[in-house]
Amino acid sequence: MEFRPLHPDFGAEVIGFDLQRGGSAAEVAALREAYDRHGLLLFRKGGRVSPERHVEIAGWFGPPAPIANDADGSLVTVLQNDEAAGRLELPFHSDLTYTADLIDAICLHAIAVPEGGSSTTFVSGAAAWDRLAPALQAELADKTLRHFYNSRLMVADWPSFAAEHPVRLVHPRTGRPILFVTQNHAERILEMDEARSRAVIEDLFAVLYAPEARYQHWWELDDLVMWDNLAIQHARTEEAHPRSGKRALQRVALARVGFHELLARARAAEAVQAGTGAEARRPGSISAASAAATPKAPAIMKAGA
Ligand SMILES: [Fe+2]
Repeated sequence: MEFRPLHPDFGAEVIGFDLQRGGSAAEVAALREAYDRHGLLLFRKGGRVSPERHVEIAGWFGPPAPIANDADGSLVTVLQNDEAAGRLELPFHSDLTYTADLIDAICLHAIAVPEGGSSTTFVSGAAAWDRLAPALQAELADKTLRHFYNSRLMVADWPSFAAEHPVRLVHPRTGRPILFVTQNHAERILEMDEARSRAVIEDLFAVLYAPEARYQHWWELDDLVMWDNLAIQHARTEEAHPRSGKRALQRVALARVGFHELLARARAAEAVQAGTGAEARRPGSISAASAAATPKAPAIMKAGA
């Protein structure tokens, strides 16, 4: 097994691994090590991966969780371009950074690719941090970013999501600092006034999303890509319209908290903020009550790729 770099900063193609039957202890150890080193692993031409095998492969890198909103507890979902989440252009982001419990990783497997091609573009927040001038690194080292997502723009009865995370996020496993600021959900650096925050965030975007910082992956049928959702950001730089052909990506995510729980927590937080959260403030009342009341919503969370 060998690893061929996809971009000078991050990403590697895995060569010489049997995606259908591989997975010895030694292979898994080598894959984990490469995953932490490169942040993104691409397996090409490994054949169609069953949902069960997909969960098994993703599980080598951490515990999977049901983080999509369009399934009832399923670990495997399919992101399709016949719905908004699978079709619309998406600015750079990491999935669900506007929640307190960050998603560790995302694993996508291409089960339908339009004839004209379809891509997902990636950048490395870890590499971006390393590229910042030392003075800016020092200034940002203790700063906090508020991440925000107004999901009401898509579904009227959903809460807004907001969470605060360090601008300089230290990866919990590798210890590597990550510039954890995203185009889609960065709202405000809390320790700065509005104007300074906006100016700094724009400067950070210029570093993060410079053309040479990007790796654009053009999907081929049966590709499987596994990436670190903390270190790596992704974007869909153009709409994947159904008239261009069917696009379907089978998806497994690694996380500690499922999506319906995150939704319940966001509802509770919003209720508390609005001063109407008497029930939500009572310990133990949040999950069951709110989750049970959660309507089955269309798949519009910005968890696409
Ligand atoms: Fe996404």
